[in-house]
Amino acid sequence: MQLPRLFGETLKLKVPVIIVNFKTYSEATGARAVKLSKLIEKIADNEQINAAVAPQNIDLAKVAEAVNIPILAQHVDPIKPGSFTGSILPEAIKACGAAGSLINHSEKPMNLNQIKVAIERLRKLKLISVACAKDVENSIQIAKLRPDFIAIEPPALIGGGIAVSKAEPELVSGAVAKIHKINPKVKVLCGAGITTAEDVKAALRLGTVGVLLASGVVKAKDPARAMRDLCSGLKF
Ligand code: G3P
Repeated sequence: MQLPRLFGETLKLKVPVIIVNFKTYSEATGARAVKLSKLIEKIADNEQINAAVAPQNIDLAKVAEAVNIPILAQHVDPIKPGSFTGSILPEAIKACGAAGSLINHSEKPMNLNQIKVAIERLRKLKLISVACAKDVENSIQIAKLRPDFIAIEPPALIGGGIAVSKAEPELVSGAVAKIHKINPKVKVLCGAGITTAEDVKAALRLGTVGVLLASGVVKAKDPARAMRDLCSGLKF
């Protein structure tokens, strides 16, 4: 169990881990984001596994007040404080209690220079960077930028219930090998279609330290049951 958060403290992202991205699903927006985060925290605690959530940025502060698991923003912009109306400032997510941020999700893509600056800004603020990569080539480019994590997520499999770890095992193991050749310190996750314990086990067997998933929990008929099943895959 994580110790209670001290004022202004950001929590560490321990591995192996299941990160649940809330995207902009209505099932995980506003008060429902808080409720789902509490559920995920409780199950992770009972099952003794590491879990983190990525609510919408507008819900970060409320979720951070409610739970003691690491919280990630879904996106930050590669900016410093100043005149950037409508942008997401890395300092702002830290002030909300986020431990770090996803960046370059295929639903919020960035160019390489933007990814580089975002990683540097997060690092400077002691925030975790979880950079998504759409394919092996993209993961190689991003590995050179020294993110803390790379999540390999082929867009074609996102939201479809066919797990990348089962459907494209070579893509995952190939990405892990190539990323580690460039930078062995980068922790690799995979995501897209992960819905069962078997999918999580397969991801770990391929050399990842966990999974980034969304619909398998957020859109599940019974999110608690789905989360419990996923957790059992992390403990094998
Ligand atoms: O960030 C998680 C993601 O894009 C995968 O989504 O619904 O296939 O788990 P999903």
